[in-house]
Amino acid sequence: KAGLVLSDGTTIDDLIDLKMNEVSLRVMNDPELHRFEMERIFARTWLLLGHDTEIPKPGDFVVRDMGEDQVIVARSRDGGIHVSLNVCPHRGMKVCTAEAGNTQVHRCIYHGWAFRPDGDFIGAPIEKEQMHGNKRTKSELGLKKARVHLYGGLIFATWNIEGPSFDEFLGDSKFYFDQLFCRTDSGLELLGPPQRFMIPANWKIGSEQSASDGFHTLTLHRSLMEGGVMGGTPESIYDNAPGMYGVDVSCTEGHSLRCLEAAQTFKMFSNVSFEGKTTEERLHLLPPPGITPELIPQLFKNLSPEQVDMLATIPPQVGGMFPNVLVLFIFAPRTDGGSSGALALHTYIPRGPDHFEFVNYIFAEKDAPEQVKRDMLQNSIQQAGTSGIIEQDDADTWPQIMRNTKGPMSRSITLKYQALHGHEKPEGWPGGGLLYPGFTKDDTQWNWWLNYHRLMSAS
Ligand code: FES
Ligand code: FE
Repeated sequence: KAGLVLSDGTTIDDLIDLKMNEVSLRVMNDPELHRFEMERIFARTWLLLGHDTEIPKPGDFVVRDMGEDQVIVARSRDGGIHVSLNVCPHRGMKVCTAEAGNTQVHRCIYHGWAFRPDGDFIGAPIEKEQMHGNKRTKSELGLKKARVHLYGGLIFATWNIEGPSFDEFLGDSKFYFDQLFCRTDSGLELLGPPQRFMIPANWKIGSEQSASDGFHTLTLHRSLMEGGVMGGTPESIYDNAPGMYGVDVSCTEGHSLRCLEAAQTFKMFSNVSFEGKTTEERLHLLPPPGITPELIPQLFKNLSPEQVDMLATIPPQVGGMFPNVLVLFIFAPRTDGGSSGALALHTYIPRGPDHFEFVNYIFAEKDAPEQVKRDMLQNSIQQAGTSGIIEQDDADTWPQIMRNTKGPMSRSITLKYQALHGHEKPEGWPGGGLLYPGFTKDDTQWNWWLNYHRLMSAS
């Protein structure tokens, strides 16, 4: 018997049919299941909270969310980054009511208890009156602290203090994600505060799509192909299905990536071929999004030869990090025939079972010229988010699925993940994970659900 039973007797196996590869639509709108998700997923796994370039100076902070728990992400005097629950241990007020700022003292506005950026308790007003009593020591009165890990400057945290390390969480996806986040000497820079949009849909509707749903692009984003924004020609969208052939990768913990041939992307912009070209020549012909010719030597320095070759030839372009991150690393055509790019990460933050907050982090390489950073910012804003030319389609669809979670008939419908390849390692493929070469199918998304099922079953 699976380890999750709802109060009406429904088990996780009733909701996720492992034999039929089907998921009940009910999972997208159920308050009880939502509480289990907060406890068994969001309070246990590593979660993305931002980037260290957002808080460069001691005292800098941003307020972010770990599921439904709000946290303060702050830099202390010694340069360390700390993540603390934004709940005052006195009477439960938010300690920090701003979204971002700089301070060495976070003072609760209710009665004035004060905390350092690392979450330690400093004291309560009127010290001689001991307004924090004497039953607990000061060291017991700090904010609840999460465990923090920096990866390529990305700030991750978890409440699972004794649980798997971040490296274990990243597992075999590290080989691929390094190519996006750890490839230059100075690393990435976040371009401004993230964009935020509220979506009237469950967080999983966005997140399971992040697990490499390439299929929807052909139909939902068809107008982009017709407009020449995503490559392909309108007549041949279903025949040559641009962007559907590549290698889909499913990694540890439900992370996934779609590696698409740069030459295929390149054909959308130009007729020059990659044939017979060295890795370096390929990189110069079609630099990966965000990389300029001056940055190419840094790729060889920071990555293994296999990683650089993949980045030049069949780079990861879109994917997801379990539970709620979308990775977008895309080539963008320029009107002069060249290509530019966008590198954005989204987090889908649960806001109850029926809403999520879509947070869009936009990046460029710190060492890139200012003009490239402006291009990257412009591309990401133009393409992503509820008003982006690509993602407005998704942002329109998700709430319509959500609308269908309410009626008793609709809730009994199951979502189908039955177009499966089975994994198979292509000859000479240098990376790990379960590999699905060829036409993109449902495998990586089904693996996302398997990981969801695993975590939700563990009491
Ligand atoms: Fe924060 Fe009282 S609730 S000081
Ligand atoms: Fe989409």
